[in-house]
Amino acid sequence: MPSKSMPSKSILRPSRRSLIKGAGAATLATTIPTGWAIAQAKPLKLGLMLPYSGTYAKLGENITLAVELLIAEKGGKLGGREVQIVKLDDEAKPELGPQNADRLVKRDGVDAIIGTVHSGVQMGIHKVVRESGTLCIIPNAGANAVTRALCAKNVFRASFSNWQPAYGMGVALAKKGVKKVAWMTWDYAAGNEAGEGFRQGLETGGGKVVQELKLPFPQTNFQPLLAQIPSLDVDAVAAFFAGGGAVQFVKEYKAAGLKPVLTGSGFLTDGTLEAIGAAAEGMETGLHYGDGLDNPKNIAFRKAFKDRTQREADVYAVQGYDSAQLLAIGLEAVKGNVEDEAGLYKAMRSAKIDSPRGPVSISKSQEVVHNIYVRRVEKGLNKVIGIAVEALADPGTGCKL
Ligand code: PHB
Repeated sequence: MPSKSMPSKSILRPSRRSLIKGAGAATLATTIPTGWAIAQAKPLKLGLMLPYSGTYAKLGENITLAVELLIAEKGGKLGGREVQIVKLDDEAKPELGPQNADRLVKRDGVDAIIGTVHSGVQMGIHKVVRESGTLCIIPNAGANAVTRALCAKNVFRASFSNWQPAYGMGVALAKKGVKKVAWMTWDYAAGNEAGEGFRQGLETGGGKVVQELKLPFPQTNFQPLLAQIPSLDVDAVAAFFAGGGAVQFVKEYKAAGLKPVLTGSGFLTDGTLEAIGAAAEGMETGLHYGDGLDNPKNIAFRKAFKDRTQREADVYAVQGYDSAQLLAIGLEAVKGNVEDEAGLYKAMRSAKIDSPRGPVSISKSQEVVHNIYVRRVEKGLNKVIGIAVEALADPGTGCKL
C-alpha cells in the first residue's frame, strides 16, 4: 500500500479522450461534447484517505480492497463514469488529518473522499470537507460529532457511530443481569464515546461502570492496567481496542488468567481472530456485523472478497463495500454528475443499502441505522447468537440538516 497519495493502477482505465480524438473533422462541429458531457467523460476522482501503516493498517487495507471490489463488480464505473482512485496513507495520526485532507481536495482535486478509520483523523477531514463542500463517506471512524452537532449535508457515514455498538453490548449485558463492569480503552474519542454508549446501555438494566482504565492511543503497555483488575471486584471488563492493539490486548488479558469475563465492542474480535488464536474462543461482543450472518448478500460478498483478495471479510471490509455502495447509489441517481448536489444527496439520504450486515437505511443525520448483534467466537469466527438492539439509530443530537 502506498505511503503518499497516488493514483491506484489497479483500477485505472484508459481515458475516454481517445474516443474524442477519433472523431472526424467534418463531424466535430456536431459531435464534440460540451459542458457536462465533457465533465462526464473525465474519470471520477475518488480519494481514499485511510491508514495503510500502524496499528490500524489492516483496517485501511480491507476497506480499500472492498471499495475496489464493488467498483470492479460495477465494471469499473459508477454512475456511468470511470473511477480513478487516489490513495493517501493517513497513518491514523490526528495531527496530520487536516493537511492530508487538504492535499486530496486542493492538490489532487478529488470529487469525493472515502475516509477514514481513526476518529481523531476524521475530525481533521471533517473540518476540510465542511469548508470545501466535498462529498465525504466515512467507512469506519465513529466520532459522534460528525453526525450530531457538526453534521453536514455532504458527509455521510456508512459504518457506525461510536455510541452504537457499545450501547448495544451494554443493553445485551444488562439483559443478562450483569451489574458491575470496568471499561478499558485507548484514551481518545472512539474509546471514550463507546464507553459512554456502553454505560448508557448497561444502565438500562441497573448495571454500573464502576471504573475506567485508559492508556494513550496507540500504546500497548496493558500490564499496569491489567494489574488493577483483581482489586476492582467487577463481573466483567468491557473494552474498546481494535486492529493490532486488540490482538495484543486480548492475548495478554487471557494470559493473565483474570476472573472477570472479557467483552466489549466487537472490534476486539473482528479482523483479529486469526492473529489472536485460541485465546479468543467463547468471547462475546456486540457489533453491527457477524461472520456467519445467513443472508444471500453476506454469503456472496464473503465469497467474492475471498476470491479476489485471498482474505476473509471482516466488519471493515463490509463498511468499505457499503461506503462504495452508497456512493454508487448517489452517482447512479445523478448519472455521474457530482455537481448535482441536491440530486446526489437526496438519493443517498433515501438509500436502502443491501448490506452484508443486513438491512441498512440512512437517518436524518446521515448516519447508518442497523442491527447490533451479539456474537460469540466459535472456531475462529464471530458467530451471531442474537440481536442486541434491532435497527438502532444514533440519537443524532444537535444535528440540523
Ligand atoms: C475510531 O477511531 O473511530 C475507530 C477505530 C477503529 C475501530 C473503531 C473505531 O475499530
